[in-house]
Amino acid sequence: MSMEHERRRIGRRTFLWGAAASAGAVAIGGALAGIPGAIAGKPGGTATRNPLYIPPTVTPSSYTLTAAPATVSLGGGKLSSVWAYNGLLPGPTLLASRGDTATITLSNRLSQPTITHWHGMIVDDLNDGAPRLAIPSLATYNYDFTINQRAAMNWYHPHPHMLTGEQVAMGLAGAFIVRDSEETALGLPSGVYEVPLVVRDATFDKVGNMAYTPRNGGFEGKVPLVNGTLNPRLDVDTARYRFRVLAGSNARIFGLALSNGAPFALIGNDGGLLENSLSVNQIDLSPGERVDVIVDFRDLAVGSSVMLRDLRSGWDLLEFRVTRRVNDTGTITTALSTITRLSDPLATRNFSFDGMSRINGKTYEVDRIDFTVPFGQTELWRFSTAGNAPHPVHVHGASFQVLSRTGGRGRLFPWEAGWKDTVLLEDGETVEILIRFDAAPNQGSLYVIHCHKLEHEDAGMMANFQVV
Ligand code: C2O
Ligand code: CU
Ligand code: CU
Repeated sequence: MSMEHERRRIGRRTFLWGAAASAGAVAIGGALAGIPGAIAGKPGGTATRNPLYIPPTVTPSSYTLTAAPATVSLGGGKLSSVWAYNGLLPGPTLLASRGDTATITLSNRLSQPTITHWHGMIVDDLNDGAPRLAIPSLATYNYDFTINQRAAMNWYHPHPHMLTGEQVAMGLAGAFIVRDSEETALGLPSGVYEVPLVVRDATFDKVGNMAYTPRNGGFEGKVPLVNGTLNPRLDVDTARYRFRVLAGSNARIFGLALSNGAPFALIGNDGGLLENSLSVNQIDLSPGERVDVIVDFRDLAVGSSVMLRDLRSGWDLLEFRVTRRVNDTGTITTALSTITRLSDPLATRNFSFDGMSRINGKTYEVDRIDFTVPFGQTELWRFSTAGNAPHPVHVHGASFQVLSRTGGRGRLFPWEAGWKDTVLLEDGETVEILIRFDAAPNQGSLYVIHCHKLEHEDAGMMANFQVV
């Protein structure tokens, strides 16, 4: 960022469209307003680290999400034009409990169609936000669904056909956290000790505005953003923290690790808690995947710091600075949950992810139903590709269990246990999953399966199916 741009910065403000009309209004600008006008990294110097932005938490009950152009501070005193939900990047964190009803109005203040999908939420097709439900500019869409699934961190993002990549890259995304009694009983770190981390990459134009510049079938940004913060830092206590990490990138895969070599205690992923916590040193996360990890800062001295790194790009993602000694005597139980294994599939389906735009040779058509799946029946789905990976394969309407990976990396990884909704397919790999659509909202619903590399999805690497 040029110094001239720094000087032109007059004040910090968040430009909002209609957010004030939301019931249960958010403390707009609360955390954003707390970001001091730190000076961004001088060329060749070390970057000043900006406080990590943590989006406000809201209850998705009679709540309005407005997708609109906005001006936000991403840290370092920059103001950037982006597209955002309720003027926030990431959007407000929706927080609900199993059994709650979500009533959300989407208001489209973009100049193009949009629709919001609740990635990971098991809802019927009219609430799923698939491409065929896209609404035009200035229209609204009403969602109304009951949450009946395991505690997990899901996320919401746009899903209009051929426009998803641009809308997500421009900033439209947020976390949707579901709680349940099983999770609560574990007494996991909470309050300030539970932090959502939406990790993505971004590119800015000459004046510091968010830019979407896809190339070679995928958008890879030039810099990382964690919760929409450039060069972020989080001041931590000598305590255990629960980080809910989401790869919110369009195409980039992250290889997460801690700079001090300390492990993550992996406790959950896309579909919620794993059976047992497991210590891992590196976690690969592709677009759409989530992990739930505990990081223990108790043995660190006040004044020390640890970096969350992306080993694939060599990026420093987030600095943890130990600033306060506290007495955290808690432990993490190893046994977390029970996962009933799916077994005995009654049918096998093959999906080949072809080129950069086709599944089984076909490009997506909004109105074509490509296959039907019987309700309540376990099936084995086999994903393969002849190239152009990564293909993070995502299925709407159900979580699944990953059975095997042959070819390529040739194994499954700890973060692929339990319940998943997105699984990474690399070149040369065949991945098998077991899936069953047995939740009430599945009956009769139309869903999509697609590559979550958003430029592949937009190009048509997606198919419609109906649960019958
Ligand atoms: Cu995260 Cu069909 O999308
Ligand atoms: Cu989804
Ligand atoms: Cu793909």
